[in-house]
Amino acid sequence: MQTQESSYIMQVVRGKYLSHLYWGRRVEKYRGSRAMIWKDRGFAPNPDDTDRSFSLDTLPQEYPQTGNGDFRTCAYGVRQENGSRISSLYYDGYEIRPGKRKLQGLPASFGSPEDVDTLVIRLRDDVIGLVVELEYNVFDQRSIITRSVRFYNDSQCPVTLTKMLSMSVDFREQEFDVLTLYGAHNNERNMDRRPLTSGIVQIESIRGTSSPQQSPFLALMRKHADEDQGDVYGVQFVYSGNFLASAQVDAFQNVRLQMGLHPWNGEWYLHAGETFQTPEVIMAYTHEGLNGLSHLFHTFYRNHLMRGKHANALRPILVNNWEATFFQFTEDKLLALAQKAAEVGIELFVLDDGWFGHRDGDNSSLGDWFVDQRKLPHGLPWLADQIHGMGMQFGLWFEPEMISQDSQLYREHPDYVLHAQGRPYTIGRGQLVLDLSRKDVCDYVIDSVRTILADTDIDYVKWDMNRHLTEVESGAYAPCQQGEIAHRYVLGLYYILETLTSEFPDILFEGCSSGGGRFDAGMLYYMPQSWCSDNTDAVCRMKIQYATSLTFPPVTMGAHVSVVPNQQTGRVTPLETRGNVAMSANFGYELDLNALSQQELNVVKEQIARYKEIRDTVQNGTFYRIKNPFEGNLAQWNFVSQDKNHVVAFHFEILSQPAAPVQLLKLKGLEADALYRDVDRGTVYGGDELMYAGISIPLKKQDFRSECYRFEKV
Ligand code: GLA
Repeated sequence: MQTQESSYIMQVVRGKYLSHLYWGRRVEKYRGSRAMIWKDRGFAPNPDDTDRSFSLDTLPQEYPQTGNGDFRTCAYGVRQENGSRISSLYYDGYEIRPGKRKLQGLPASFGSPEDVDTLVIRLRDDVIGLVVELEYNVFDQRSIITRSVRFYNDSQCPVTLTKMLSMSVDFREQEFDVLTLYGAHNNERNMDRRPLTSGIVQIESIRGTSSPQQSPFLALMRKHADEDQGDVYGVQFVYSGNFLASAQVDAFQNVRLQMGLHPWNGEWYLHAGETFQTPEVIMAYTHEGLNGLSHLFHTFYRNHLMRGKHANALRPILVNNWEATFFQFTEDKLLALAQKAAEVGIELFVLDDGWFGHRDGDNSSLGDWFVDQRKLPHGLPWLADQIHGMGMQFGLWFEPEMISQDSQLYREHPDYVLHAQGRPYTIGRGQLVLDLSRKDVCDYVIDSVRTILADTDIDYVKWDMNRHLTEVESGAYAPCQQGEIAHRYVLGLYYILETLTSEFPDILFEGCSSGGGRFDAGMLYYMPQSWCSDNTDAVCRMKIQYATSLTFPPVTMGAHVSVVPNQQTGRVTPLETRGNVAMSANFGYELDLNALSQQELNVVKEQIARYKEIRDTVQNGTFYRIKNPFEGNLAQWNFVSQDKNHVVAFHFEILSQPAAPVQLLKLKGLEADALYRDVDRGTVYGGDELMYAGISIPLKKQDFRSECYRFEKV
């Protein structure tokens, strides 16, 4: 398989074993240089006693099998009705076709026959009657290959799939670092780069969502690779539930890279004649370092994953009332906030949690999606009209996957809760989770949200999800299917999202899960932006947004200016810096504008006016990371507009230092021989000068200081 930048090569060995030969920098024509070296390795079992040099334990495989001599991690697992858990897959043919089919019920990348070709390789286990189809989608212009797997039970008996990963690649190479993203609520996506030495590096979620704890992303990097150069292999899962990704170093220093559904509580009972489709993994290789990797992912997601009219449209600047009022608001308070927002140039007013049932705190009313007339006596349509009358759009918060025990819904349908028979519930944030493995429950969710969206003129929805899944079982399914419920929950969620986003194509949806707890490629297919973190502290956000940008373009990251001392960290940062960090992504405010001084309001007005000027460059341009805040006191990045005429650069210095060095900002992605005017100061510089010599940043005695530079090509 060839893309502009990469090649991916396989080989059928001995007529039946599908082996992996190469994935990496493009090779124009492969003539066999990387031949397999056969060697009799001690303790490596042999399928054929006449040849001790051949063993599955040393063969680089495309989809490693289980129980017959490969002792490394397998790609799939089975359990037959007779209890057997062994499976061998043999090559059984292939097919190539233009274009790419939809993955039934799942989010997945898409493209026309001009964009993408599909290769399907069929493998068979004749003892079980199991067909495994490995699907590869080659987006050659984008230098992206995607993979997924389909299992087909071609026998007369049911078989249980106990593991079904979406991809596996065996590198016959060593000396990689592995890069993953870990975190927590309020501390999403920290970068963790470490050497891959021996054993297994594994990241996972068994929380029912992709989670803030580990992100479904993993990269292998050459030791010397950095932001700008060097081999990087990145894989990301297009899925929002339990996942596993691992890199295993075997006894001969080969590296096995895998990603897919988590096998814990992740079985599937496959009846005779049925198929199971895994979600998709996006695979990107570049020799241009992490920025190169990000550019592949960003371009790919913009063109082949994000859907709908908002995907490539400019996004509105919003104000959200959450940190301004929490649950305590009245119509008057909201209208006063909206009025001030309209005055300073904000374009979208978002009413967050607390507008429904009798929700005065976080332990009631989830599921009761009708307006609380105590707080909003004139109702939602009226409120939306008032906001529209001020020249702004109107947005509304929902948390539709949840149910409070103190709710009308729970009193009527206690069985809607995800629960285990005979066991008490485990509560999270005072709430329970709806059993979305059940279609009737999904339809209830669709109906209740649909009613509000149809009755009120709503432009934007914030779709929240504030706890992880426990007691993941369902009375609606047979005992042998209980291992399916975690995946069925995610399929139910996707069914709901597909239905609502298709019925309301004009609404801009933003995902959220206690901040950026479900910021994944699966959600991006339905919702082109996500709240990045409940942590709005400017210093923390530098890191969170920096790491999120490894695969997601800044336009997808909701970023708001909030009050100081910051609600999450207590830190006091300048309004300018809070603005510059938030303006580096999808910009908004989340504070009581009426509590600001006139001077602060003037700054806010300037920020909004500035963001409107740079918005196209920030939201649609190419993003370059320059200085990594995980590595020191600085953060720097810049954006270059699509037409390459506009450049926006940001410099952040976290702590003021004695005897501070003079810092330079060396821009990236400019044309070396073009001239650029500094829009705010009028000076003209050469592109080469700005990139190679850099701009000297004036010294300032101030913590958390920042600078924003705008340039236009002369
Ligand atoms: C979550 C979200 C917040 C806010 C609250 C409301 O924590 O991340 O932005 O919407 O819920 O309860």
